[in-house]
Amino acid sequence: MEKFVIRGGRPLRGEVTVSGAKNAALAIIPAAILSQDICRIENLPVSISDVSHMMKTLRHIGAQVRLINANTIEIDARAVNSFVISHDMTKFLRASYYFIGALLGRFGRAKVAMPGGCYLGPRPIDQHIKGFEALGADVSIEDNAIVDAHADRLIGSPVYLDVVSVGATVNILLAAVKAEGMTVIENAAKEPHIVDLANFLNSMGADVRGAGTDTIKIRGVEKMHGCTYSIIPDQIEAGTFMVAAAATFGNVLIKNVIPKHLESISSKLVECGAQVEEFDDAVRVSLDHRPGHCSIKTMPHPGFPTDMQPQMAVLLALAQGTSYINEGIWSNRFRYAEQLNRMGANIKVEGQLAVVQGVEALRGAPVKADDLRAGAAMLIAGCAATGTTEIEEILHIDRGYENVVEKFAALGADIRRIRFPDNDAAHAV
Ligand code: EPZ
Repeated sequence: MEKFVIRGGRPLRGEVTVSGAKNAALAIIPAAILSQDICRIENLPVSISDVSHMMKTLRHIGAQVRLINANTIEIDARAVNSFVISHDMTKFLRASYYFIGALLGRFGRAKVAMPGGCYLGPRPIDQHIKGFEALGADVSIEDNAIVDAHADRLIGSPVYLDVVSVGATVNILLAAVKAEGMTVIENAAKEPHIVDLANFLNSMGADVRGAGTDTIKIRGVEKMHGCTYSIIPDQIEAGTFMVAAAATFGNVLIKNVIPKHLESISSKLVECGAQVEEFDDAVRVSLDHRPGHCSIKTMPHPGFPTDMQPQMAVLLALAQGTSYINEGIWSNRFRYAEQLNRMGANIKVEGQLAVVQGVEALRGAPVKADDLRAGAAMLIAGCAATGTTEIEEILHIDRGYENVVEKFAALGADIRRIRFPDNDAAHAV
């Protein structure tokens, strides 16, 4: 087992370079199945476990995946010879279900076990299925475990999403790019990674228009060729370091970002009294006094991202006054509150609302990462707290943050990754 040990109370100062976007990578990697040639993907966070798992799954169905350098791979999916992906491959991450749309688009057939991933509350796939069926596929779920989809022909069609869903938008895009005729996705998700996927598909010869708006039009094409594509920077990793800079009264230049993707985060930090300076591909965040309170409601993009909610809660836990966090997307995304309260925070959760009474300081304590972004919140809290914080179950953090120890340490954090025998896990927090 491994844990992070952080001796906090040191302002983060210096520069950090953000990696490629995890959630763009997880949609783009399966999309390469649609190509009749080789796809070269750059600025990829290859070392995060979610990405390495998606590459392993591609190899599992016959694709060749070559590591070119630390952040570049080449995928040759011509040899993909199976449309079946079992639970032992999908149990690690939710995005495994993107293989359904990609295999359906490639073969007209997909048999993929339901995925695992962070528990944030019920994570249905009814909108994904609604999209596949609109394209003419028959979809059944065997024993509530295996999604079995097949279509003799995929025919373009209008699809209205009852819920703004990133996953459903991605999956329908993957199935529609080679359907016959026009597909129109209404009420589509507008996240930056949807635009990145659309740009990747178009660089392979697809015809996708309107990504980033709530109406995406896809005219099916016969063939898709190879391409070279660079993933966008990770808006959530960038936001995590922005909040960490503010929560530790630091001054950090976050490089390799697209400031427009960070607007909701920047505006909330400014509302709390932080300085946010924007450059072409970087933002500088600084704060030299106790933050003021503010309220957050998480919404689909361009609203405040739910994946930044736990991290922002740490800053609000240290703010002057009372803040309110309304989680508008997931029904169970406040589990980190219990861990922060062990560190002296004063957070009361009532359903989808967390009431955060700001305190002067957090104190180090043994905590755990309940999920990926809860883990990110623990990292920030450990850096901000006085004393020592030990974070267990850090495999969640390694799913989405590349070289996280090196990046925080380069900013002055006193952070170490410690191995300890599994039998100690019994005393885990
Ligand atoms: C993606 O999850 C992200 N994961 C999540 O990030 C993120 O929290 C979420 O989008 C919202 O932005 C990846 O991109 C791999 P949704 P996804 O479908 O696609 C409901 C992280 O930390 N819904 O947009 O699973 C659903 O229950 C992860 O990087 C249906 O009702 O999210 C939720 O309430 C955690 N039916 C809402 O829509 C469906 O068929 C949004 O879910 C699908 C979704």
